[in-house]
Amino acid sequence: MNDTERTQAIDQRYGELAESACCLSCGGAIKYALARPGEVCLDLGSGRGQDVLRLAETVGPEGRAYGLDVSDGMLDKSRRNAAKLGLTNVEFLKSPLERIPLPDASVDLVVSNCTINHAADKAAVWSEIHRVLKAGGRFVVSDIYAIEDVPEAYRTDPEAIAECWAGAVRRDTYMSTVAGAGLTGLQVIEESAPYDKGRIQVASMTLAGIKAGNCCCC
Ligand SMILES: C[S@@+](CC[C@H](N)C(=O)[O-])C[C@H]1O[C@@H](n2cnc3c(N)ncnc32)[C@H](O)[C@@H]1O
Repeated sequence: MNDTERTQAIDQRYGELAESACCLSCGGAIKYALARPGEVCLDLGSGRGQDVLRLAETVGPEGRAYGLDVSDGMLDKSRRNAAKLGLTNVEFLKSPLERIPLPDASVDLVVSNCTINHAADKAAVWSEIHRVLKAGGRFVVSDIYAIEDVPEAYRTDPEAIAECWAGAVRRDTYMSTVAGAGLTGLQVIEESAPYDKGRIQVASMTLAGIKAGNCCCC
């Protein structure tokens, strides 16, 4: 499997789900994110855009909310929803998680729900989150981790990855990847019991942390 096959499988699955109402989340990241007026927020794997629209309403006209996704179907649905609400402080970006098209130190808050498990290069995703966050900026991410190692045959199966389980990594690997990107203050806000997904057992967690550094000078 190469990156193109992986992206095609994701585009196909989520293109088909864009007009459905089924729940695609695995935790309450947005509930814990507590965006503030004037902030710049980014949702990685924004799906139909509902969390981005909530963020846009919360940050108001002085702030900005970005959604990022690779699925044309999801991006189309999100843009139509934003237009219906007449929101002008919102923008949806087509990009893989590993290449966030925003400048260094430009974002106050990164959220993501049930998306990073799909990424081929998770270290690159977390490094990008660190890069775009301002010093003192924060993230709240809900995602799935694997209770057991994903069998090799599925780890390279694009459809199984698009179904939110075969790309999952073990909890210790997850936490060390986030810490390895330089993010600190890691806090697991909620965590589920193990449950069956695809051919393995997974669990969901919502993880928060910050990019250390002085956010203000005097
Ligand atoms: C399970 S859905 C979650 C959508 C939304 N966050 C929610 O909670 O409803 C995962 C989303 O991530 C997107 N996605 C998956 N892999 C991606 C990647 N490598 N780069 C960018 N977006 C990706 C999919 O297109 C899909 O919209």
